[in-house]
Amino acid sequence: MREATAIAHPNIALVKYWGKRDLRLNLPAVPSLSLTLGGYRTRTTVTWGTSRDEIVLNGLMGDDPKVRRVLDLVAPGRPGVRVESDNDFPTGAGLASSASGFAALVVAAAAAAGRALSVDALSALARRGSGSACRSLFGGFVQWPLGTEPDGSDSVGVPIAPADHWDVRLLVAVVSEARKDVGSTEGMTRSQETSPYWPTWVAMGPGLVDRAREAVLARDLAALGEAMETSTFAMHATMHTAVPPLLYWQPATVAALHAVFALRRDGVAAYATMDAGPQVKVLCAAADAERVRAALVPHVLRVDVHAPGGPARLVP
Ligand code: PMV
Repeated sequence: MREATAIAHPNIALVKYWGKRDLRLNLPAVPSLSLTLGGYRTRTTVTWGTSRDEIVLNGLMGDDPKVRRVLDLVAPGRPGVRVESDNDFPTGAGLASSASGFAALVVAAAAAAGRALSVDALSALARRGSGSACRSLFGGFVQWPLGTEPDGSDSVGVPIAPADHWDVRLLVAVVSEARKDVGSTEGMTRSQETSPYWPTWVAMGPGLVDRAREAVLARDLAALGEAMETSTFAMHATMHTAVPPLLYWQPATVAALHAVFALRRDGVAAYATMDAGPQVKVLCAAADAERVRAALVPHVLRVDVHAPGGPARLVP
């Protein structure tokens, strides 16, 4: 038996992935761009060669078929495997736990299996568990292009600037820690199949990613913030106009958004994004983080402040 442990951080998309052009390979309908978060982490230990599979997620026995599928892809014909994974933040509540979870899983599993895989191959494997996980192999700002290869081998995370490129903060305003009722795959399918705005959303994606990448490289917060908010509100418009509608927002989500807009009226460069959950995530300069945090706190359960985080990695 061989054992390996890895840690990975979640990432938050500044330009969103929402929709799949290939469900089995988890290939995206739109390109995306994310920031890896320094403050939250998943820690996963994989033991290779047990008598049967045992999957323990956050201390609870779980039998997630996606975990087994990814393990089968790491080493076809594999033996039994034990996976023990813990998050130091809420799971399945729109805090990108699946991204850090699958990134840590592939890094630990490949090492425990004795397979030396490139980081691109690891990113493609993580993508099979959860699309956004392909970005969590890398630290800092990461792009996930559409790719052109039919097998998806070039639709993987591409680092565009490391964590220390830009002294920004991403604040997570936690509105609820409950698990969401509609998961991202079901939500994407529903938006894709029923929203009249779907074609517009897909057409906007490449231009938004280009604008955001240039803004990151130029450290232009106003330009990045504008692309970010355009992306998030366009994505939520496809959710709101799905049949039946998907509304991940709670009253506190809207209150936090208004707080961000009020900060901007007061001259603070703070910009919001939201995922398939009620939390509001706010990007700002490190120097403004305390002011932004204070403005969000009255509206939500708590506010976590993240510096940019590093890549998924093995730990002793
Ligand atoms: O990777 P998934 O299937 O959990 O989907 C993530 C979707 C969003 O969080 C809404 C957007 C994104 O790009 O992370």
